[in-house]
Amino acid sequence: MKLKNKVAVITGSSRGIGKATALLFAKEGANIVVNCTTNKAKGLKVVEEINKLGSQAILVQADISKPEEVKKLFDESVKKFGTVDILINNAGIGTPKELLKLTSEDWEKTFRTNVIGTFLCCQEASKIMLKKKKGKIINISSLRGLPEFGRSGYLDYCASKAAVINFTKNLAKALAPHINVNSVVPGFVDTEMSQVWDKKTRESAIKDACLKRLVKPEEIAKANLYLASDDSDAVTGTVLLVDCGFSLK
Ligand SMILES: NC(=O)c1ccc[n+]([C@@H]2O[C@H](COP(=O)([O-])OP(=O)(O)OC[C@H]3O[C@@H](n4cnc5c(N)ncnc54)[C@H](OP(=O)(O)O)[C@@H]3O)[C@@H](O)[C@H]2O)c1
Repeated sequence: MKLKNKVAVITGSSRGIGKATALLFAKEGANIVVNCTTNKAKGLKVVEEINKLGSQAILVQADISKPEEVKKLFDESVKKFGTVDILINNAGIGTPKELLKLTSEDWEKTFRTNVIGTFLCCQEASKIMLKKKKGKIINISSLRGLPEFGRSGYLDYCASKAAVINFTKNLAKALAPHINVNSVVPGFVDTEMSQVWDKKTRESAIKDACLKRLVKPEEIAKANLYLASDDSDAVTGTVLLVDCGFSLK
């Protein structure tokens, strides 16, 4: 087991990539803090599945865009498990609108979750990890966060995911030498988020990927496992692309 007795906080883990990561980490022996905002029933289902795998889990409903709720997320994690070893900043949102329809409120909402939420969770986790001089932080960005793969109908999302990559690299310096900070950059993954794509985007996501398919959430979970485990102790400030070769097109 690669994560025996480790404690992992995984934001946005009621479904999709976060859920797949929670289940894989539980199989590898970690205890999991499941998090979501609205969908309590789905979050509790993930907790149940983790328990069946023989690991412990709690659900903390917390909106990571709000400082007081992020504090609650980490307070409850420490109260239940005593510490936090791994943080996966996975919760993410975006606004599928063209430029002239986007509002400053759309941008604020996206940046509050994807950028400020990631920052707040890193800050709270760092307080715990710096004391024990050990920890792993993984920030989930997106292919859309790379300048050459953005999309004109998803401007706030692309900019926020670029910020996540920049933040990851500088945070890796700030938290060295004891805490590793890395980013996973998923390509097109088959989750609920991908249901908002139009037909053309979905078709090109498959056709233009070298491997001619979407990425499975479980495949992002495996990249997260590598970066959360001791196998990646020499890796920090890196950006790991998992995109079925889409970026080679
Ligand atoms: N799917 C893709 O193709 C793809 C590609 C590249 C990158 N990504 C990134 O990978 C991550 C996961 O994507 P996904 O497709 O698995 O997403 P998803 O299916 O839409 O799930 C998002 C999760 O985040 C939670 N969430 C949203 N806002 C939150 C907030 N403010 N506080 C706490 N939890 C919040 C949701 O919980 P509630 O239901 O309770 O709101 C849900 O559990 C995101 O950061 C996304 O940008 C995805």
